[in-house]
Amino acid sequence: MAADTRRSAAEDGAPRGSGRWPLLRLLIRVLLLAAAPLAAVGLAWYRSACLEERREAGLRILGAEGLFLFSSLDTDHDLFLSPEEFKPIAEKLAGLTRPAEFDEEQEVLDPNGETLTMEARMQPLRMDTMTKSRDGFLGVTHSSLSGLRSWKVPVAPSSVFHARQFRAFLPPKDKLDVGDTWWIVPSELNIFTGYLPNNRYQPPTPRGKEVILHSLLSMFHPRPFVKTRFAPQGAVGCIRAASDYYFDITFRIHAEFQLNDVPDFPFWFTPGQFTGHIVLSRDASHVRNFHLYVPNDRSLNVDMEWLYGASESSNMEVDIGYLPQMELQATRPSVPTFIHDEEGNVIDSRVGGAGGDPIQFVFEEIAWKSEISHEEAARRMELTFYPFKKVEYLPFSEAFDRAQAEKKLVHSILLWGALDDQAVRCVKQPLSRHAGSGRTLRETVLESSPVLALLNQSFISTWSLVKELEDLKADPQNPTLSRLAALHLDKYNFPVEMMLVLPNGTVVHHINANYFLDQTAMKPEDEGTMFSFSAGFEDPSTSTYIRFLQEGLEKAKQYLEQ
Ligand SMILES: *[C@@H]1O[C@H](CO)[C@@H](O)[C@H](O)[C@H]1NC(C)=O
Ligand SMILES: *[C@@H]1O[C@H](CO)[C@@H](O)[C@H](O)[C@H]1NC(C)=O
Repeated sequence: MAADTRRSAAEDGAPRGSGRWPLLRLLIRVLLLAAAPLAAVGLAWYRSACLEERREAGLRILGAEGLFLFSSLDTDHDLFLSPEEFKPIAEKLAGLTRPAEFDEEQEVLDPNGETLTMEARMQPLRMDTMTKSRDGFLGVTHSSLSGLRSWKVPVAPSSVFHARQFRAFLPPKDKLDVGDTWWIVPSELNIFTGYLPNNRYQPPTPRGKEVILHSLLSMFHPRPFVKTRFAPQGAVGCIRAASDYYFDITFRIHAEFQLNDVPDFPFWFTPGQFTGHIVLSRDASHVRNFHLYVPNDRSLNVDMEWLYGASESSNMEVDIGYLPQMELQATRPSVPTFIHDEEGNVIDSRVGGAGGDPIQFVFEEIAWKSEISHEEAARRMELTFYPFKKVEYLPFSEAFDRAQAEKKLVHSILLWGALDDQAVRCVKQPLSRHAGSGRTLRETVLESSPVLALLNQSFISTWSLVKELEDLKADPQNPTLSRLAALHLDKYNFPVEMMLVLPNGTVVHHINANYFLDQTAMKPEDEGTMFSFSAGFEDPSTSTYIRFLQEGLEKAKQYLEQ
């Protein structure tokens, strides 16, 4: 009975008069409510003080480089190593080359199931395409590039896989139409995680569908990371064609390799993307065709980042380069190793029957019932990776013509490096700060649906590189564009500035990306988060950006209505 009264008091949000000291109870409730966040803040402060203490002790005992190695193993950053975190070292010391960690994911594969042979081919990175090669890699220590220089061929030129392992490429039950896309490996980056740490050597244990991707990429190099440190991250599939029994599935994977190992500092090798396609039966018992490759149709297709010294981000060097070839191809469709003849005898298909010749398999022609082009499938995967592209970003000059015609405000992003191409990031210091902001901006705010809807409805969007606008500004042939560019550059601050601009070029509102992220990007353990969460479950960056856009509309109102 007493418990009932207490519960209903809590539900009503007002103390009942049944108690003897209603005012006192109210006071206690208020104090309790206030104490909860205070206690959490206190705890967070206490934790970070302990961590700081442990970090200092670590530095004293191990020195900077020792602490760095220690941190690279300490995946939960508590400055203690658990047996799980110590595992890579144990394996190294015990001389185990391949961790036995795939067992748990690997279902017992039917020995009668079909198998296929995969071949890996690569041509090493063309060192002369790296910008650092221009000055003869001056100032680049030899050990930094050792992993890159020594990586000339795939570690496993040929491997046998079970057809069933490729079931990871099959679509989920609710995505069975041609043109459907889905996440094979979902991206896990968001405003709270930011990005994954640079100081790691061993990939985390692959789970679920990551296992086959990890195995395939391991043919090139022993240390593939199926999940990249920065966005875009993950793998997406798209049904390009379907028949009653088969799918043709295109895929796009963002993964990277760690080329260095202890004692050298990490060197990250990040191809622009891995793409390709697989033709397989709907039950994954048969793989007709498999091809995976790094596109090489651009002059630069690999990002490289390496660390100097024992700190997470302060001494990071960046370069880009050209990788002529990196691909996997199935030698032929999957076939059963053992078959039964009419009398029920088991025959090894590689050796053949009584005649002694290997068995020849004949494959039926696949007649697609419905299909889209490879280009269309690629476009759909791109939209899945970059939802911000659902809003059209026009070229600079077009955006202002359109805004003039539609009497709209221009939402203009001016940045040092590129917004949508991993391989063309800025190659200058200070890099990590910049790269982080450009990416974080794209993968959070510009993709959230309320922002997309508002941009779509009330703005014309464009983005440009500082270099492009500087060229426009200096161009005497085009005074209108030159003036627009000059007005933009006046308001620009490194690294990324978001601006709301009248069709005639006057900037009515602007915000710098670093300032914006500092305002909004709180980690979950930060004390303030509790309050912003209690104010509603909205991502703080989304509401801040919406407010920024609305303030711009408000300021522009009088002009746009004329
Ligand atoms: C943008 O607006 C158009 C027309 O109003 C609509 O068809 C489209 O779905 C919208 N896109 C987004 C991302 O809201
Ligand atoms: C653009 O138009 C607004 C209002 O019509 C005006 O105040 C502003 O000075 C103009 N800017 C330029 C650069 O002409």
